[in-house]
Amino acid sequence: MRNSNSDRKVVLITGAGIGIGRATAKAFGAPDYTVLVTDVLHEEGEAVAAEIRDAGGSATHYSAAKAGVVGPVRGLAVELGRHGIRANGLALGFIRTAQALSEQHSKRAAGLAAVSAPIPRGRVGEPEDMADVITFMASDKARYLSGQTILVDGGFAIQSH
Ligand SMILES: NC(=O)c1ccc[n+]([C@@H]2O[C@H](COP(=O)([O-])OP(=O)(O)OC[C@H]3O[C@@H](n4cnc5c(N)ncnc54)[C@H](O)[C@@H]3O)[C@@H](O)[C@H]2O)c1
Repeated sequence: MRNSNSDRKVVLITGAGIGIGRATAKAFGAPDYTVLVTDVLHEEGEAVAAEIRDAGGSATHYSAAKAGVVGPVRGLAVELGRHGIRANGLALGFIRTAQALSEQHSKRAAGLAAVSAPIPRGRVGEPEDMADVITFMASDKARYLSGQTILVDGGFAIQSH
């Protein structure tokens, strides 16, 4: 998406208050982007937008639910490619976030430590590891990448082969 008032790209990130969304919003907080931060966690979302602005970037927080349902990446890439729009997905391995550490959802700290042993890269992922790949995928460096879902898991999925 491009902002009609300037050459700045506009990036909307849902769930940007904590975890991978937060790291990704901050990674897009460079001069070329305006970041629209959304999260149902109002204070966390506002704090991320403020951090981006304090670092010299441009950001606005919307306290809203996810803005739409993102359809299959391949279908969007086929449908929108001729309009200059690319669609790509990111598949994750084990990433150290509140969700991954929570009692309710997942592995807790001990579980995350245990799961890191068979990961070829030797550790679980950090939110920033995801953010760097996402910003690359959105950048012009990836201008010919479309319709792909990239698995970013430190090699976990191939470790048994
Ligand atoms: N962390 C992992 O290891 C892992 C692995 C596989 C997949 N994932 C997926 O990646 C995504 C991000 O994971 P995370 O670990 O950063 O999660 P997280 O729980 O740390 O952060 C999720 C954020 O989304 C926000 N959110 C939830 N519902 C929303 C809504 N309707 N509208 C706007 N915001 C909403 C939450 O408030 C929270 O800020 C999730 O979909 C998760 O299932 C995570």
